[in-house]
Amino acid sequence: MEKKSTISASSLRWKILRRSLIRPPSSNSEDKSEVSIQRISRKATHGFNLIPFHLVKDSVEENVNSSKENVMDSSRDATLCYTLPVSNAPSLILHQRVRDMAHLNDFEVCNRYDIDNTGLICQWPSEDVLSHYCLSRASIFREKRIIELGSGYGLAGLIVAMTTEAREVFISDGNPQVVDYIQRNVNANSGSFGGTEVKPLMLHWGQEKDTDISNTFDVIIASDCTFFKEFHEALVQTIKSLLKEEGPSEAILLSPRRGDSLDKFLAEVKDSGLHFSTDEIYDAEVWRRHQRFIEGDDSWPNYEMDHCYPLLVRITR
Ligand SMILES: C[S@@+](CC[C@H](N)C(=O)[O-])C[C@H]1O[C@@H](n2cnc3c(N)ncnc32)[C@H](O)[C@@H]1O
Repeated sequence: MEKKSTISASSLRWKILRRSLIRPPSSNSEDKSEVSIQRISRKATHGFNLIPFHLVKDSVEENVNSSKENVMDSSRDATLCYTLPVSNAPSLILHQRVRDMAHLNDFEVCNRYDIDNTGLICQWPSEDVLSHYCLSRASIFREKRIIELGSGYGLAGLIVAMTTEAREVFISDGNPQVVDYIQRNVNANSGSFGGTEVKPLMLHWGQEKDTDISNTFDVIIASDCTFFKEFHEALVQTIKSLLKEEGPSEAILLSPRRGDSLDKFLAEVKDSGLHFSTDEIYDAEVWRRHQRFIEGDDSWPNYEMDHCYPLLVRITR
């Protein structure tokens, strides 16, 4: 990796970390439950909100009278319960960090593993769209071996595991702290996977040594993973090595354009010899919500297509 890109990547990481360490001031005048919901994740208020959920437990409130040390250790999580909009689906439990709650240890982990902490900051709006996309197209996954890359808390991977009768679902990320959450979330829903095997996995693009999983996946899914340009080449190589060579296989990515970052990623895909297609209007409901936001719907102030609306990218061999 070039020195120049390493420096800009690490300064960007520090910027993200610094922002996530600054907690917003609390407001007594606001409705308490609304404040709780907002603290979970910016997704709760700014997002497509395609999968309904409610707050089950907000540890900050629960531990407010604990010792200072306890608050540091246990005050960072919230538990959400998603109601999947398909008949007979079980509820989905998701543990995640409350918004803007970082720890100094996060810096150390990011530097040691050459990774960012974006998977801890919040669940990003594209993950909700990816979840909805997978939920409404279960047949793509039935009896297949699936992996989610850069999954963050893993909502889409868990939904595929719970609703599509996939054979195996790996839910992966390159940040070990994120992988701990994936493990907790898999454990929390372990009774709801039917015959599907579900495996949390630490997988850092470009560093995968595990040849056991190369050339074995029918479908790869990922959301909002194309914004860090210094990882484009590694992400493409990871996709190329994981996609099964024999029989049909594909990667399904949902990513906002974000300036030239998606185009640069796609150029890298082309250079690698893989094929791709992109689609702007791939789901009627997602497009309808997008148009409402563009028209100024209050639920997502400052919505802007380039940054917020994920395009569908399909990659094949
Ligand atoms: C913007 S977040 C998206 C998380 C989740 N998909 C979502 O949309 O909420 C990017 C994710 O990619 C992971 N990531 C970033 N660089 C990575 C790398 N080189 N290898 C593996 N994972 C990486 C981060 O840890 C993070 O969870």
